[in-house]
Amino acid sequence: HLLAVRITSDTGIIIILTVKMAATSAKLPQDFLWGLATASYQIEGSFDQDGREPSIWDTFSKIPGKIKDGSNGDVATDSYRLWKEDVDLLESYGVKSYRFSIPWTRIIPRGGRGDPVNEAGIKFYRTLLEELIGRGIVPFVTLYHWDLPQGLHDRYGGWLNKKEIIQDYVYYAKICFEAYGDIVQNWITFNEPWIISTLGYGVGVFAPGHVGNTEPWIVGHNVILAHAYAVKLYRDKFQVSQKGLIGITVDAHWLIPYDDTPANKAAAARGLDFRIGRFMDPIFKGSYPPSLKVILGDRLPDFTPEEIAVVHGSSDFFGLNTYTTHLVQDGGNDENMGCITTGHEKPDGTQLGRPSDAPWLQTYAPGFRSFLNHIWKVSSVTENGFPVKGENDMPVEEAVHDKDRIEYFEGYANALLQAVTEDGVNVRGYFGWSLLDNFEWADGYRIRFGVTYVDYKTQKRTPKDSARFLTKFVTWGQHEV
Ligand code: NOJ
Repeated sequence: HLLAVRITSDTGIIIILTVKMAATSAKLPQDFLWGLATASYQIEGSFDQDGREPSIWDTFSKIPGKIKDGSNGDVATDSYRLWKEDVDLLESYGVKSYRFSIPWTRIIPRGGRGDPVNEAGIKFYRTLLEELIGRGIVPFVTLYHWDLPQGLHDRYGGWLNKKEIIQDYVYYAKICFEAYGDIVQNWITFNEPWIISTLGYGVGVFAPGHVGNTEPWIVGHNVILAHAYAVKLYRDKFQVSQKGLIGITVDAHWLIPYDDTPANKAAAARGLDFRIGRFMDPIFKGSYPPSLKVILGDRLPDFTPEEIAVVHGSSDFFGLNTYTTHLVQDGGNDENMGCITTGHEKPDGTQLGRPSDAPWLQTYAPGFRSFLNHIWKVSSVTENGFPVKGENDMPVEEAVHDKDRIEYFEGYANALLQAVTEDGVNVRGYFGWSLLDNFEWADGYRIRFGVTYVDYKTQKRTPKDSARFLTKFVTWGQHEV
């Protein structure tokens, strides 16, 4: 038996003691989707091929100082050319599903509803999709993973222009539903709207690099509306015949109050309002969390009654990208986070978990289980992964023995299994980030998340031990063991 002792403290935090997987008789549903994930700008390269036009990430990454190692996605893992090798890898790992993103810039390179559709782009993803399906791999397609056509940004301010961007996004989504909806049954409208709006238009460390405290709320609002109107179109015109699911994916760390003080407990709750409630409450509950209105006042746009009727209920699943847990405290009105995050150090000076190569990420599987319980019911974990500390400085022979990544996946998969089989949480899928080491946005190529090592000079792919481990665990949740 899986040994789990749960002590529910009055903070609502669940402390779990577990033993390893081996003795459990627990099972996940047969149709549970285990998979791996990537995103277009992080892997494709071929930035000027076959009619592709620049996105805001092409522009941003070429501004000196924006990317820590001075790199960009011009070549990345060269997956636009080497895509078949990547599909071979997926097949060899035995995954059931592959989550990847279609870049708007290859489908409608200039972006707008009056601009030409690019047949070469349409054809490329059709071929990829057919290949995946032919090999029994279920595609999970993200329509927007941050690469807004630069043309739309220049023409009318991109995400800041409510009237234009919603119509253009819905048009782009329509082209994709028409081109692929007969063979794609899983759509994600947007990946991580908090990152898009707050890091892109508030903190300025991601494209397009704006800094300020009004734009993030406008952009976030417009993204919610663009999502909702695309879903409406899908449901009105495509869903019945194409029988697919459509939803949105948010990102958040699980938040634990630094200590038991009421102020810090409230800060943790507020932190989740600002990170995920900001998007998911309008969609699942029909309004923004009250704490946002209190802090932001008039800077938080309102939905009209007609708009909220479209937004409310506009996701068939709750997509969650989550990697870690943070300790949080009250203190000021940090509008980006809703609280002060104190990272991973506990009051007694010890660390929550094992550090990684990304300062924001430590492994802490119990937080994952708590998080799944918190969001509850219909959820799908669309990303989860670990960049092993120091991996980029290791030779490939050493990097492929990624024990810490295995430990991470094992802990998180265990927590997931417990959440499903013991706590009754309805989780439908789990995607590890990432199939390949790739362009980690503002960190460039220095932080590696892949279960496949990529030598960026030769583009040679070498499976890491974690890929072999995943191959086992893809089938592992299905059996009585
Ligand atoms: C979040 C994003 O969706 C993905 O693009 C990124 O590389 C990983 N998680 C890791 O930071």
